[in-house]
Amino acid sequence: RSIRPLVAGNWKMNGLKADLAIAVEVAKGYDAGLKAAVDLAICPPSTLLYPATAALIGSRIATGGQDCSVQVSGAFTGEVAAAMLADSGAAFAIVGHSERRTLHGESNATVKAKAEAAQKALLVPIVCVGETKDEREAGKALAIVKKQLRGSVPEGSTAATLVVAYEPVWAIGTGLTPTAADVAEMHEAIRAELGRLLGKAAAAGVRLLYGGSVKPSNAAELMNVAHVDGALVGGASLKPDEFLAIARACV
Ligand code: G3H
Repeated sequence: RSIRPLVAGNWKMNGLKADLAIAVEVAKGYDAGLKAAVDLAICPPSTLLYPATAALIGSRIATGGQDCSVQVSGAFTGEVAAAMLADSGAAFAIVGHSERRTLHGESNATVKAKAEAAQKALLVPIVCVGETKDEREAGKALAIVKKQLRGSVPEGSTAATLVVAYEPVWAIGTGLTPTAADVAEMHEAIRAELGRLLGKAAAAGVRLLYGGSVKPSNAAELMNVAHVDGALVGGASLKPDEFLAIARACV
């Protein structure tokens, strides 16, 4: 691999204080061999970000938020600013997850503004893109994802300031995954589109994660696809053994 992989766990709206034990278990299993080869991040609900970061001190496991506001501060009840995530210890912020795009009506422009807000707070945004089942069946997957990238990726992003996650909406939480050939085609297209947007040199190093029903049984196949530089893991990230097995598949 020319790019050091990243395996990020998105806990979604799961996790109470007692579940910090999951993060601690992951840290216990993040042995020297894994540390040498793979970066790990855990994105708990924002209520657990500070204690999760504290629990992971010394582990070299990063934390991240699952969303951030486009606003910096002020009268925006319920919103969490990127700087607040950073202040709680986060290094990453997932933006534009399909659950945000679909359930909260986030447009590409909103996702881009969130990614920019994250970068201003020195967080690395994990910008999510992916087609629906209908779009895939209509043969529009590549066009949709390229459009999402053009609309959602901040200008001037580099390998150090951007991660992209390809998550086919129909693969999230369903147990379904695209074929390795489909993932390869998509990730190659994403790299090429980022090259047009950011310049080839910057795009070459951006980590491209695959997400959607990644589990230990399919991780080796998916993680060995060209231009797949890690995973964004939902359900399996709540099970330390599974999350670590997925990480091991990247070595
Ligand atoms: O952010 C993570 C994804 O939505 C994948 O979720 O692994 O439960 O399918 P999943």
